[in-house]
Amino acid sequence: MAEKYILVTGGAGFIGANFVLDWLGNESAAIVNLDKLTYAGNLGNLQSVRNDPRHLFVRGDICDPGLVTGLLERHRPSAIVHFAAESHVDRSIHGPEDFVQTNVVGTFRLLEAARAYFSKLSAAEREAFRFLHVSTDEVYGNLGPGDPAFSESSPYAPNSPYSASKAASDHLARAYFHTYGLPIVTTNCSNNYGPYQFPEKLIPVVILNALAVKRLPVYGDGKQVRDWLYVNDHCGAVRLALAKGKLGEVYNVGGSSEQTNITVVEQVCAILDELRPRPSGKHESLIEFVKDRPGHDRRYAIDASKITRELGWKRTESFDSGLRKTVTWYLDNTDWVAAVTSGAYRHWIDTNYAGR
Ligand code: NAD
Ligand code: DAU
Repeated sequence: MAEKYILVTGGAGFIGANFVLDWLGNESAAIVNLDKLTYAGNLGNLQSVRNDPRHLFVRGDICDPGLVTGLLERHRPSAIVHFAAESHVDRSIHGPEDFVQTNVVGTFRLLEAARAYFSKLSAAEREAFRFLHVSTDEVYGNLGPGDPAFSESSPYAPNSPYSASKAASDHLARAYFHTYGLPIVTTNCSNNYGPYQFPEKLIPVVILNALAVKRLPVYGDGKQVRDWLYVNDHCGAVRLALAKGKLGEVYNVGGSSEQTNITVVEQVCAILDELRPRPSGKHESLIEFVKDRPGHDRRYAIDASKITRELGWKRTESFDSGLRKTVTWYLDNTDWVAAVTSGAYRHWIDTNYAGR
């Protein structure tokens, strides 16, 4: 291989773009970034590397076998890091088909292309090659209040069309390791937050609504629990799993930072009260409890002791420090916010929140 590449899918989305930036700042290999640029993909996330010769952006679909095969043959990557997905649970409830198409069929097509490519590599190249499959804690389903956190041996019990499609992709990845010997490592991560998150997910919805003096919609009683991880810590875990993960293994990644949704919203409000006080009152007065998400999982929590013990991973950001950084980022990046909240975004907000 003349020049060393990795292929990243979905590298213009929230976590993918953070990963691309993190990778280029820490590693020597170049990136081929394959992204379809759906509503969630945004080249504005990659502005800072637009002139970096180590970043090659390709607009395209992971479901297109000819395109993927051509990229593998042309750039001969030593790894595939697979982020591309439809990622929003609420959208999967309104329209599950895209989730099956990209998350299940797309992952299958990518695995097939990787399998054909892998079979033609030299012994040394095969030894080095990795397929890193990025997945979610949602595949494990719902925890009761006293249940132990999800471990890598927790049974799969997905409850939303999104998590079912991710679970299917995990099973395909697992099967390609066991059946064909494709060198797969899978990570299952908890809720990410941080810069460049599309404002359909809880934390950016709350920040931007609060700034616009709109209601802060909290589903149901707001006592659902999520385990929050700053996105850069997730990126570090993926790099580590790629470098040192054992083939065929799964690594859970989480923030050890369980929070109820209402607490998260209150903390965002408190930071905004400090950084952007409202003359007419505290931001939390905008909180409104709205109709719950159907099939809403009550609690997720990740036991990340395996990746800590075996690969030496540790989160670096606490929820307090990460949330403050995140709110500050949205306050400082008004152009980015203006660009993503125009047009189709407003249509989604009407679709999801109008009846609530
Ligand atoms: P995102 O929705 O912000 O980004 C997804 C990206 O994939 C977008 O750039 C989109 O254009 C691209 N994409 C979608 N369909 C595609 C296709 N058919 N071909 C090529 N590109 C396509 O998602 P995210 O939050 O960054 O999540 C990335 C990955 O991490 C997903 O696999 C998700 O399941 C997983 N994950 C997310 C979280 C989280 O909290 N956001 C937590 C754990 C795991
Ligand atoms: O757990 C990992 C998962 O985290 C990822 O696999 C998904 O891709 C990612 O979207 C995220 O899923 P969630 O459904 O947990 O994220 P979301 O930000 O949509 O919601 C977080 C919690 O907040 C959830 O309990 C629903 C609630 N919520 C969400 C929104 C958008 C609200 O109360 N109000 C809202 O307006």
